[in-house]
Amino acid sequence: MAYVAPSLLAADFSALGAEIERVREAEILHIDIMDGNFVPNLSMGPQIVKALRGKTDQVFDVHLMLLHPLAYVPVFREAGADWLTFHIECEDDTGEVLKAIAESGAKAGLAIKPDTAVEELYPYGSLLHSVTVMTVEPGFGGQTLKEAPLAKIRQLKQRFPHILVEVDGGVNYETASMCRDAGADVLIAGTAVFGAKNPSEAMVMLKGESV
Ligand code: DX5
Ligand code: ZN
Repeated sequence: MAYVAPSLLAADFSALGAEIERVREAEILHIDIMDGNFVPNLSMGPQIVKALRGKTDQVFDVHLMLLHPLAYVPVFREAGADWLTFHIECEDDTGEVLKAIAESGAKAGLAIKPDTAVEELYPYGSLLHSVTVMTVEPGFGGQTLKEAPLAKIRQLKQRFPHILVEVDGGVNYETASMCRDAGADVLIAGTAVFGAKNPSEAMVMLKGESV
């Protein structure tokens, strides 16, 4: 059974407290952090993570789309991140960032862009709690899922059964079953959840259950 992690990027930013209420049933909240360098966009900072931390006990899966994540590991951990995910394509040393995450007490994840080979993750497999397989170029919500990266999910599950594999980008009613069939444990969905009239029903449908 897959989890659905609503991606806050698609929420109404003028009413984030109320938006959190709409996705109460979700065990995991996905929070996108962008630096305008690794990706051509800006999103949220630690203040927002901290403000929301006071409102919910949900797992905060913080996705760092940063060229230099190392310095921000303690910052986002202190703000309330439970899981810290950074990109294998970043410019900091992967081993050092993983060490910093372990020292912070958060669970460590690596994210991988659509065109990056899955083998690049293999040296770090034993250190990872999760891998986020990106099915769009990171930076923006509401894009169309690319199917080719889904093959990485199965490869990862076969090689590292302990790793929680998340899929991020373009997950909606049409594409969710492909992601589940590929073996994804967590379906990250922004537009499909927050854009729905009834986010609870949307999450049930994305899981492939009937409402
Ligand atoms: C994109 C982000 C995603 C995004 C997904 O860079 O990492 O988490 O919010 O949005 P949807 O589900 O709308 O594709
Ligand atoms: Zn994300």
